[in-house]
Amino acid sequence: MLRQRNTSSMVWSSGQRVPVTVTFLILVFVAVVLLFCHNGEIPSSSTGVIEQKWNSFESSVQLDPTVEFRNRTDVIWQVPDSPKAVLFLAHGCNGRAANFWDRSTKCPQCVGLPEERLIVLHALARKFAVVAVSSAGRCWSFGKERLLVGGIIKWWVKKQNLEKLPLVALGASSGGYFVSVLATDLKFSSIAIMIAEGMFDQIDITKDYPPTLFVHMPKDKARKQRIDDNLKVLREKGISFAEIKCLEFPLLPNLLADRIPGLDQTISAQLFHLFRDKGFIDKNGYMRNDGRALRWKEALREREIVLPDKRLSNHIQEELNLAFAYHEMTSLHSGQIFDWFESHLSRSRITLI
Ligand SMILES: *[C@@H]1O[C@H](CO)[C@@H](O)[C@H](O)[C@H]1NC(C)=O
Repeated sequence: MLRQRNTSSMVWSSGQRVPVTVTFLILVFVAVVLLFCHNGEIPSSSTGVIEQKWNSFESSVQLDPTVEFRNRTDVIWQVPDSPKAVLFLAHGCNGRAANFWDRSTKCPQCVGLPEERLIVLHALARKFAVVAVSSAGRCWSFGKERLLVGGIIKWWVKKQNLEKLPLVALGASSGGYFVSVLATDLKFSSIAIMIAEGMFDQIDITKDYPPTLFVHMPKDKARKQRIDDNLKVLREKGISFAEIKCLEFPLLPNLLADRIPGLDQTISAQLFHLFRDKGFIDKNGYMRNDGRALRWKEALREREIVLPDKRLSNHIQEELNLAFAYHEMTSLHSGQIFDWFESHLSRSRITLI
């Protein structure tokens, strides 16, 4: 499920003999990846892919953001003890920095979407300092906004005294395009581009371009094709890359309660049964369509199911989209994503201009 290549592995594609150690490493790698990814295809199993619950990190990390308004945008961050790297997060269209942390007295406007907040918790648990910025418009733009956000990141890194640490970035959808371009302005040690193919046809890729991980949902076939095309471009340029494919998985009665803070088992099960009765999920629990396309909120009203907080409908929709696996932010592969970042940390340091 995950293909990796760097300049030392060119023998793979040229049909020459591959050293035994390399073969062994590849097999181990593939086994690990299959272990992580393939659970998504097993209808009866929810363990594995969905092992992380919303409160899985309770005993080790707490969300505790600092919020600042700068250059007319929100900058929200959290730095763990002894950070080893800095992670810049770029949301997708309609997203904002506030989606990555739970609502709290320190961040009353925060939203805490289930996948976003788990990405931050994973990051903090792995000792990455996290900084998120909101786009000026609904989506990111690629002109002045690049300079502005690059400037904010540099300012923030300096202010926090983190200049010596490697910098990585993760962007989803519009944020993925943004990160692919920002990587020509800032020195990232590696980047992860989620559910986006990046803007590789529009940027100048030098040999310093960071190793790039594509985290995508192959059900989106057109995008998968564009990612494949971009992998070819990166291969030609000698840039390391890897790919994580995220597959659909079945809903279970407890899924929403497991993933969404403030949604209990009872409502979670009621929703599951409603979705099944309405035919939103098939007999094995798989979503028949994207959460955005199903009239599930109307169905909720009809059955008079009342959410403890109506804002939770965004959280529910995110999980439905994730289960359908066409286009959504995902934290399910955070383990592999942070392994990827960590494997490239020595590559470079942030250089402040
Ligand atoms: C961002 O704000 C800082 C401090 O107010 C200012 O010095 C800087 O020029 C601004 N950057 C841009 C690109 O507007």
